[in-house]
Amino acid sequence: MTRPSAYYITTPIYYVNDLPHIGHAYTTLACDVLARFMRADGHDVMFLTGTDEHGQKVEKSASAAGVEPMAFVDSVSERFRDLAGVMGFTNDDFIRTTEPRHISSCQEIWRRIAANNAPDSTESNIYLGKYDGWYSVRDEAFYAESELTKGADGVKVAPSGAPVEWVEEPSYFFRLSAWQEPLLKFYEDNPDFIAPDSRRNEVISFVRSGLLDLSISRTSFSWGVPVPDDPKHIMYVWLDALTNYITAAGFPDESKPSWETYWPADLHMVGKDIVRFHAVYWPAFLMAAGLAPPKRVYAHGWWTNEGQKISKSLGNVIDPLEMVEQYGLDAVRYFLLREVPFGNDGDFSRRSMVGRINSDLANDLGNLAQRTLSMIAKNCDGQLPSFDAATAPDADFASRESLLAARGLISGLRDIMGRQSFHEALELVWTVVRDANRTIDADAPWKLRKTDPEAMKAVLWLQAETIRHIAIVLRPFMPTAMDAMLDQLGVGTEAREFSCLSSVGELTDEHSLVPGTALPKPSPVFPRYVDEEEEEGA
Ligand code: MSP
Repeated sequence: MTRPSAYYITTPIYYVNDLPHIGHAYTTLACDVLARFMRADGHDVMFLTGTDEHGQKVEKSASAAGVEPMAFVDSVSERFRDLAGVMGFTNDDFIRTTEPRHISSCQEIWRRIAANNAPDSTESNIYLGKYDGWYSVRDEAFYAESELTKGADGVKVAPSGAPVEWVEEPSYFFRLSAWQEPLLKFYEDNPDFIAPDSRRNEVISFVRSGLLDLSISRTSFSWGVPVPDDPKHIMYVWLDALTNYITAAGFPDESKPSWETYWPADLHMVGKDIVRFHAVYWPAFLMAAGLAPPKRVYAHGWWTNEGQKISKSLGNVIDPLEMVEQYGLDAVRYFLLREVPFGNDGDFSRRSMVGRINSDLANDLGNLAQRTLSMIAKNCDGQLPSFDAATAPDADFASRESLLAARGLISGLRDIMGRQSFHEALELVWTVVRDANRTIDADAPWKLRKTDPEAMKAVLWLQAETIRHIAIVLRPFMPTAMDAMLDQLGVGTEAREFSCLSSVGELTDEHSLVPGTALPKPSPVFPRYVDEEEEEGA
């Protein structure tokens, strides 16, 4: 069945042994912007986030905190819910892996995987054996000896730098080795499945190098989902965690409308550290269970802080709440998606944050709106000036060109956002912002005020209409500030979706700003950020 308008997007579910930091905020922010963009474009969006609450790591953190695991996960999970309020996230669901809906979903996917034979085999996908090997609790991952190196103090460490321990215990295995060829064929048939390309190449070469069967149950601790019919075994936390994406779509009840509508998911957004789980194990589990794999996995880069790796031990963890308190929510949302080409690693620095606020937001966009709105307030009785496309001597105005460019933005943005190239989307909008600043200078309505007031009005209208387009396409990125800008332009809340934009080459249509509309008194949407540290130093 085709479902042209549905769009299902997910973040990873966050481990509850850590408090939320900038890395978590980043993944969810990217999804939030995309979810808002798709909603504004008329799609039926399901945006999921949540918390990953089982496993040995969480069990250890709870015991270190001296509380029962359930009490521990209840309190930390709440902090991730609170993050949505701080960052303005619009997730439609928040899943916790300790919820009953998820436990039954996990047990059902296990049953289905076990009920099916591995490809080209008469053996089930799951068999009982014994795991003898290395395990990293921090990564909740198994590693082959060949992947390990010696850490600073001589002990073996995983490629992530996490310590590993030797584990010997009875375990169920997933016959991953048998899925090597089907996976390679799947990647070939679905070239957009993994992005960006660098990650796709990395995954394909990992799979080509040969897959080992995967241990998918543990017996040495109990905080997890019991394996069906053998509850001494706890399901491997990654099989449990990945299954959250189908639980939230309604699995195992495939008669639910949500299942029909949203699965397979359109996009799993993840960080580069967990691409293997999402692009190798997850499609293999799903195919083994007879379910469709997701359509796309995008693996973004990692943030450092002033050039240093972010870690609790270095004490340089960036708290999203503090960032928002200091710089404002819209500026933080803008900065995170503008500063670094999405997919690459990036560095947070106070200097670059303040630079972006003052140059891109205050000087470019803020100034653009403020100049036009304050001229309208002073010279047009606070009402949107008149403009008649048929009679206005528009050919003479440079501002006409920036309006036409603004109207063309949405078609370019659809393509760019479809590739999750957030920085490119913002760069594209800023070409129009800068252009509009140039064209208002060229038309100089402040000079026309005396010589040709009608022409002044036409220029101001053209500029106001340009700003309306810019504000509407930027709403997914900076919802509060763009709503304030649209309020100042007298645009009703019902007229802020992309259907109220036009990509055609006309200057006016039924959605255009209506001359004569009374406007509220303008006030700057993006004040300059005065860096107190620099002020003191100066
Ligand atoms: N629980 C697993 C995911 C299970 S999904 C079925 C997990 N959780 S996590 O809390 O450790 O990480 C969640 C996300 O945060 C990952 O996508 C990770 O890449 C991202 N980040 C954590 N630190 C980060 C940075 N410093 N920078 C950018 N993102 C990083 O993995």
